[in-house]
Amino acid sequence: MREIARVKDAALGFFDSGVGGLTVVRAVQDLLPGEDLVYLGDTARLPYGSKSAETIRKFAQEDVDFLLSKGVKAIVVACNTATAHALPEFWKDCPVPIMGVIAPGVEAALADAGTERIGIIATRGTIDSHAYQHALAKERRGLRIYGEATPLLVPLIEEDWVSEEVTKEVLRKYLAPLLDRGIDTLMLGCTHYPLLVPVLREILPADVRLIDSATTCAEHLKRMLEEKGLLKEGDGEGVLQIHLTDLSEQFEELAKRFLRRPTGRVRRAVVG
Ligand code: DGL
Repeated sequence: MREIARVKDAALGFFDSGVGGLTVVRAVQDLLPGEDLVYLGDTARLPYGSKSAETIRKFAQEDVDFLLSKGVKAIVVACNTATAHALPEFWKDCPVPIMGVIAPGVEAALADAGTERIGIIATRGTIDSHAYQHALAKERRGLRIYGEATPLLVPLIEEDWVSEEVTKEVLRKYLAPLLDRGIDTLMLGCTHYPLLVPVLREILPADVRLIDSATTCAEHLKRMLEEKGLLKEGDGEGVLQIHLTDLSEQFEELAKRFLRRPTGRVRRAVVG
């Protein structure tokens, strides 16, 4: 009995190439405020989006090992690129439950029976892996799925240029081929992109549905913890620990913006 209580009290682990995954952490804090969270951002080795599948798998394994060394009870791969390239590898051997951001997004996109034409924007690595395309096609036949690599968006978001005209221009150019194909749903396939939602709402026709994987991921995580009897009990407030593999003032500032609340002391992590 005491053993089970101890596991329930352990923290949840999250990792991303940088601070983008904090959008997922924020959604989890809102939904599960009592849980302790450990976040690893591999800022020394980002971006993952332009790297090979082999390199991303190696990095992701090292990130998972870091979180396991912190005694986490479950892991969320809060990075679309790492989920796309590495998640199936981990299902087999990971000693704790592990989930990514793609399955929750797919579930949310298909929750509407009317969804027929889906656009996905993401890093080049995620789009080229076809992970979203395969996951969607497996769930529903006859879908029209269009992926668009949007590599300029992460740097624009990190520069805090989200509301600048140049970002709107870049978005219009990226979205034009998807809108020409009459998409009814746009999936944000990168953990940085929830910060673009207000601008996307300005640019997109009102009838295009936006799927942001941060919120759906938090809901998915809650269900998974319930099913496995791992939800923390009691009503104390959870603690968040942020670890970054490269610590700089810029990353600390960015982390605050992504989390939209104080980050506490950010620690330097050594992985690999
Ligand atoms: N956060 C990563 C993702 O969700 C994108 C940033 C990167 O390229 O490292 O794919």
